[in-house]
Amino acid sequence: MYEWLNNLPKAELHLHLEGSLEPELMFRLAERNKIALPWKDVDTLRQAYAFNNLQEFLDLYYRGADVLRTEQDFYDLTWAYLQKCEEQDVVHTEPFFDPQTHTDRGVPFEAVLNGISAALADGRELLGISSGLILSFLRHLPEEEAFKTLEQALPYRNAFFAVGLDSSEVGHPPSKFQRVFDKARAEGLLTVAHAGEEGPPEYIWQALDLLKVSRIDHGVRAAEDPKLIARLIEEQIPLTVCPLSNTKLKVFSDMRQHNILDLLEQGVKVTVNSDDPAYFGGYVTENFMALHDSLGMTEEQARRLAQNSLDARLAY
Ligand code: ADE
Ligand code: ZN
Repeated sequence: MYEWLNNLPKAELHLHLEGSLEPELMFRLAERNKIALPWKDVDTLRQAYAFNNLQEFLDLYYRGADVLRTEQDFYDLTWAYLQKCEEQDVVHTEPFFDPQTHTDRGVPFEAVLNGISAALADGRELLGISSGLILSFLRHLPEEEAFKTLEQALPYRNAFFAVGLDSSEVGHPPSKFQRVFDKARAEGLLTVAHAGEEGPPEYIWQALDLLKVSRIDHGVRAAEDPKLIARLIEEQIPLTVCPLSNTKLKVFSDMRQHNILDLLEQGVKVTVNSDDPAYFGGYVTENFMALHDSLGMTEEQARRLAQNSLDARLAY
């Protein structure tokens, strides 16, 4: 089954490049950049990957991202991820990057964007993987900071096609970013947002109505609101669901509790994605495998999920 799922052509629509930083690469970059890490080796670091919620994960994720300093580092990070895509028949990817995680540490915006863009270009040319980049704002920071990031990015408008919203969800509703998303749309950018991962269905309504998103990232808590589910079905708004992430961050206590196949059967346009694969135990194929092992996903359901991911692409 692994081989069959692995060889199913699919798109990945919810992937944080910083979350694809494998421990081995983290240690290599730490050495290259002469940075001391608080873990003695790769195994000790992996043992720290036990989280009770989103914030515990984010604290470690931002700490790990500190090894990313140069354009070459961002190239290597992105290239390693694209090689995984090739292995797993991910034919198209729309990754996120979080510029503020890097510019706030003094890394030039250009180093981040140029390294990522060069790897994505090589991915297209050498691996035949199409892609589009999403610039994501950190929602725990003020909207003013997001405006500054957008201003910094606009000279490179053609290097990304959409803006997103990630980081600590609860207490940072989409409404906080309505003005900066208005500005992004006025510049011709598409919009997506994390909503309904830990946050309530209300945040999904806001993402749709205030941020005018084309997709919802996660969105699994929509299941608590029948009117919202009806709208998602009616408008065929894609949800980029991340099953391993949701169990590692205790959004669901166990994979057997996950609602992705229920949503699929109700007619919601759900897709399977890896979110932060280096931290959550696998890439897209491993996420599909978890649905097979714990939820009894059939081949026909897997085909529909893969087709949904191809249909929900926004970048060409
Ligand atoms: N940043 C990286 N992964 C994230 C997630 N699952 N939710 C919110 N922000 C994130
Ligand atoms: Zn995410």
